[in-house]
Parts: sequence; structure tokens; C-alpha cells
Amino acid sequence: MSVPPFALRPPAPRTTGPEGPVTVAPGVTWIGALDPGLRSFDVILKTSNGTTYNSYLVRGSEGVAVIDTVKAEFTGAFFKRFEESASYDEIRYIVLNHLEPDHTGAVPELVRRAPQAEILLSPRGLPMLRALLGAEFDNAKVRPVTTGHSADLGDRKLDFINTPYVHWPDTQCTWLADARVLFTCDLFGSHFCDGRLFEDQVDDFRLAFDNYFDRIMRPFRSFVTSALDKIEPLDFAVLAPAHGPILRSAPRDWLARTRLLATPRRKADSAEKVLLIFYVSAYGSTAQLAQAIHDGAEEEPGVRVSLFDLEGSDISPFLDLIEEADGIALGTPTINGDAVRTVWDMLARLVDIETKGKLGAAFGSYGWSGEAVRLVEARLQGLKMRLPEPGLRVKLHPSPEELEEGRAFGRRLAQQLTGTAAPREIDFAELAAR
Ligand code: FEO
Repeated sequence: MSVPPFALRPPAPRTTGPEGPVTVAPGVTWIGALDPGLRSFDVILKTSNGTTYNSYLVRGSEGVAVIDTVKAEFTGAFFKRFEESASYDEIRYIVLNHLEPDHTGAVPELVRRAPQAEILLSPRGLPMLRALLGAEFDNAKVRPVTTGHSADLGDRKLDFINTPYVHWPDTQCTWLADARVLFTCDLFGSHFCDGRLFEDQVDDFRLAFDNYFDRIMRPFRSFVTSALDKIEPLDFAVLAPAHGPILRSAPRDWLARTRLLATPRRKADSAEKVLLIFYVSAYGSTAQLAQAIHDGAEEEPGVRVSLFDLEGSDISPFLDLIEEADGIALGTPTINGDAVRTVWDMLARLVDIETKGKLGAAFGSYGWSGEAVRLVEARLQGLKMRLPEPGLRVKLHPSPEELEEGRAFGRRLAQQLTGTAAPREIDFAELAAR
């Protein structure tokens, strides 16, 4: 994908941007807000270039629709741009494509100013809206919508496309067919603030686009693929996300880029199963166990087993491997009654990828109490992984018999992956009883 040439870009400063509303397409206006100072989004994502909260106004012959709003601190800019575009009594619909607070900060006040407006959102957004509006929810006009539903604005209409988990269960897209604009909320977003707003005018934001996918969408990439399958047949000319540049110059390129980011490099139904074994070892005992588990698992045909010392790498490259793997075994010593920091760092990062249904297992050597393995198991279960074997714990250095048990443990894990052993899953009660 090429970067638009500098010579064609207007010299608008990136942090201030336009004073008023901005035309996106005929009868479609940007009324959002710029947040150039943001450096951390949702506590999880660094934002070197800040972000934008994109809100849109769609004008029809019989009223206007507001699509998403802004974060609470930016309602002043939002209402100013709205008032330059329309009056409150013209609002026929408030469309909420996603109920996260960065898009709904102005909703309670907007509903007060436009009590006649019908609030359109996915059914799964209803509990969030109820919490957002509190007692005012009962007086609000609310209509759940999904794929196949539409909202009439007279000479044009909005169609809704249910696209759950891009980024929350409530997320949907809204399609304005006559202008060929698709409002996608978080999907196709990027945390990148440039007041020139459009992808053919702003600075190079490809890094922000990819990073946004990596930290926001990646855990839901199968849902992203499903959403793209629904969107791709539309004859869109503009992808209008709720964060970052509006994609109008080469929108299909951005869809293709997103599909690439969401596509696993290894087929899920690959005949060869992949088991990754990670460990941290203080005195070599957990490392010996890890090697024994590796060797045992390798005895099972059809399983590729790999062994990694977590101390030897940053965690990010391992995430790529785990995302494509069928299972992981994680080894840690117990120090001061806990797993070691490096292991917790790894476990914390697993929320960035899809782990549900993958095989998980824990093992480790300990000196006194040995809590670490159980703590890791609880975390793996919390990540919705399948734990077929109670964790393997060994006091101090493993004996030859314990190393043989390690090899048997590895074989059993591998057999769970190939299906040569009956599927098994331990539960919390079984863990607690040990
Ligand atoms: Fe931009 Fe999931 O909110």
C-alpha cells in the first residue's frame, strides 16, 4: 500500500484540526473530537499520536441521525460541531454502533437535548445503555436493531449489520447505501490524531493501524474475519471508523490489510499439531522437567514440539507462536509462594490473542510449598484454555523416576492433541482437591 504524496496534502496542523464540522460525503458530516494528548488508551495501548473520537451526522429529507458520539471529556467539541450542523429537534435517530465509553460520553446529554430521538443499537448493547442512562433509560425511545433492520430518514435510509466482537459483543456497523459510506466504529480504526482527518491527507498512520489491530482486534480475529465477510460485498466508497483517519482513497486496501492481519498463518485444521513448552528455571530443575516433557511429547507421531526458555526472549514473538499453536505447557519454579515474574508477564500478554480452547498445562519444581503450578493453571483456565492434566510438580531436583513421569506427562499432552487419547479436562474442583 502506497503512502499518499505529501504535495497534495493541506497544511493543517495535526493537533488542532478543523474548527467546525467536516463534510465526509453528501449529507454526511464529521462532528467528532480530537484527542492529540492521549498516550495510553484503555490502559492497554500506547498512543504516540493520540486519537480521535469520530462521530458522524447523516442528514436526510426527514431528519438527521447521529452515529456514535465521543469520550465524556470531549462533549464540548462534539456539541459545538453538532450545533453548527443541525438542531436538536431534527434528530430522528441516535445510532450507537458500540457502547464503550469512548463513544458514548455525550449520549446521556444528547438524549436529554433530543428526547424525541430513537436510540438504535444491537440487542446486546441494551444492558450497557441501561447502565449508561440510569433512570432516564425508562423514558428513552430505544429500538434494538440487527442485520436486516433499517432506519428511514426520508430520502435515504440506514441499514444495520450485526458484527459482534469487533470489539465488544454489542458492536455493529451501519451502512448508508446511497452515499456508499460504511460506519464501522472500532473496526478499521486507528489511534492516530491528525486534524486533516482523511487517510489521503494525514501523516503515515500504517504503524498505528496495525498496532491498533494488534492490541484491540487481535483477540477477536475470527470475529473480524466474519465481519469482513459481511462487509466485503458492499459497494462502499468510504469506511468511516470511530477512531483515526477516515478511509476514502483506497478503502478496499485497508479491508485487505485488515483481513491479512486477521488471517492465521497456519491452518487450524493442520494435520500436524503444535505444542510449545515454555519455562523459567532458577536452578535447572524446572528446565530438566521441561526437557523431559518435550522428549515425551515428541514420541507421539504428528506433534511438533518446541521448547523455549522464557528468559531468552521478549514475550511478543512468543505470542505470535502461541496464537498459531494447538497447546502450551508452562513451567515455573515457586518463589515466595508464587510463579515468577516472567511467567506472569507471559500470562498477562495472552489476553492479546485467542486462547479459548487451546490445550494448556503447567509444571514446575519447588522447594517448600509449590503454589506456582496451581496459580498458573488457574490463570490458564481463566483464559478458557483446556487443561487435560493436573499440573506436574516436583520437589527440588527431579529424580530419574520423576523425569520419566515428565516424559509420560508430555506423551499424554501430545495424545490429547492428536486425539489418540480420550479428550479430558480437569476442573477447578479437581485442582482444589489436590
Ligand atoms: Fe473505541 Fe471499543 O471502543
